[in-house]
Amino acid sequence: MARDRSSSRVTLLLPTIFTHLIGLSITLLTLYWLVNFREGFAFTSHVKFKIFNLHPLLMILGLIIFSGEAMITYEAIPATRQTVKLIHLMFHLIALGTGTFGVYVVFKYHNELNIPHMYTLHSWIGLSTICLFGLQLLMGFVTFLFPGAKLATRARLAPWHVFFGLVIFVMVIVTAETGLTEKFIFQKLKQGQEALVVNFIGLLILVFGIFVGLIVVLSQRRK
Ligand code: HEM
Ligand code: HEM
Repeated sequence: MARDRSSSRVTLLLPTIFTHLIGLSITLLTLYWLVNFREGFAFTSHVKFKIFNLHPLLMILGLIIFSGEAMITYEAIPATRQTVKLIHLMFHLIALGTGTFGVYVVFKYHNELNIPHMYTLHSWIGLSTICLFGLQLLMGFVTFLFPGAKLATRARLAPWHVFFGLVIFVMVIVTAETGLTEKFIFQKLKQGQEALVVNFIGLLILVFGIFVGLIVVLSQRRK
């Protein structure tokens, strides 16, 4: 069994390294976009779009990067199962905290400019995603950590935990892609450099999502 796990880790080493690199590229490209083309960030400012800029940054860092990395910890980190479980939990907690703050910021931005709330598909899928994410975290915590279900119940619930984890991650990707598209249209970007940067962020997020999914599915198959 131990040999199986370590051989699966070797097979998944390249996709895992590739996924980390894509995650790093998304982070750097998002920072480059928001600092270079959108003048950076502020929590309070009379330049309101600086407040908005925190929204994509926090959502991408939290729900895409941290959550994606949390989902591949079981393959990416060679440590005891208990340690990996705690890292998986911690990364998801950071993801939820960052994501919730990111949603708070965009509500604050809408309030300060008197823009109505929750009128787009992006905002509907986005808010549902955050709620489901919180629920998944709670269920995961109660089932696998504290108080923890009986062994047989855990084994029965594990595939559902993985399935809903992947569904929520797909929803995160869809939300990010619709958010980027909205911003592209609101800013009337066409063929300039910024348009390319925004589109590449979207493409890299899609590739990141596909590879996180691949690693999770392959690691399940080998259990
Ligand atoms: C991936 C996780 C994301 C979630 C959960 C999320 C969630 C939300 C929510 C709930 C709102 C509504 C705020 C309100 O009604 O006051 C919103 C607004 C907005 N978000 Fe996101 N967002 C995410 C990512 C992004 C990204 C990456 C962008 C890219 C720029 C973006 C762009 C926007 C824009 C332009 C609005 C204002 C228009 C609207 O309400 O749809 N979002 N977001
Ligand atoms: C929103 C939060 C969460 C999401 C999206 C999520 C998602 C996932 C995914 C996709 C996997 C499969 C990983 C793989 O096998 O490579 C997984 C496994 C696992 N998660 Fe979570 N998880 C979340 C929260 C939690 C929490 C809070 C705990 C409790 C500490 C937990 C415990 C576990 C355990 C024990 C496994 C291994 C299950 C097995 O035996 O196959 N998860 N999770």
